[in-house]
Amino acid sequence: MVNKIALIGAGNIGSTLALLAATKNLGDCILVDVVEGVGAGKSLDLNQASCVENFTTSFSGSTDFSTIKGADVVIVTAGVPRKPGMSRDDLLAINSKIIRSVAKAIFEYCPNAFVICITNPLDAMVQLLKETANLPSNMVCGMAGILDTSRFKFFLSQELNVSVEDIQALVMGGHGDTMVPLPNYCSVSGIPLSNLIEMGMISQQKVNEIIERTKNGGAEIVNLLKTGSAFYAPASSGIAMAESFLLNKKKIFPCAVYLNGEYGVQGLYVGVPCIIGSNGIEKVIELKLTQEEKSHFMKSVNSVKQLLEAIPKSEE
Ligand code: LAC
Repeated sequence: MVNKIALIGAGNIGSTLALLAATKNLGDCILVDVVEGVGAGKSLDLNQASCVENFTTSFSGSTDFSTIKGADVVIVTAGVPRKPGMSRDDLLAINSKIIRSVAKAIFEYCPNAFVICITNPLDAMVQLLKETANLPSNMVCGMAGILDTSRFKFFLSQELNVSVEDIQALVMGGHGDTMVPLPNYCSVSGIPLSNLIEMGMISQQKVNEIIERTKNGGAEIVNLLKTGSAFYAPASSGIAMAESFLLNKKKIFPCAVYLNGEYGVQGLYVGVPCIIGSNGIEKVIELKLTQEEKSHFMKSVNSVKQLLEAIPKSEE
């Protein structure tokens, strides 16, 4: 049986998700977008690209949520992206309304799907999605940590002048200014970052600058594009999660997952490392953080809590 991947939102991230899913032969894609013609137009374009690329994927598009029926994976990007000067949190009111309607559709048409939320403000939207859709927490997660980590890795690779492939890194916490890049969990081909600092390959000050640039990585792209936010790296990150689920790869990724006491946090979605396999979020990995790391992480947890409190209570 061919997997069915429902992409809710057929904007820049949604259509890039479809292209990557086809490249990796992950399954057939349905692109749903409330704007008439967008899902249909992009899927027609992608079907025509298949004739050049020899994709076996079939693409279809719709404005109708019922077309997601029976999907194995749902990736949600529906919502409004940031404009220059806006924080992710500025999107809260409008995107929470959209997420509520998406969650109801998922509950109705594909309650067994593995659901990956990308819509911002991510940590609040994934929590709202899970609560409204009333799905098990292992089957609903948010994409952010892989993206934030990819930014951290890229900036380090540029500074160290080494291949991105050799860099292992980890960024935890919420997907906002309080995210927590963890230099202690960073190595290059097994060489801890602290050794590279001692060896003079990179200075502590440069590492600090890279941490700050990582935290502002999304805004940097928003400011350059002026009309929207990043989409290639967010889509790559979302597809990595979908692939690990569909192929039961059991990859360890930092994702926004529902914490049930881990890290001393109860009932809240926050970015932490986890294993993704055919049972969704199969395990949360609880690291022993230093006091300093813990205090940064808890600051991030508190900002996620504040964001949740700011979600309008009803759809009105
Ligand atoms: C970013 C958006 C997708 O960080 O949250 O670019």
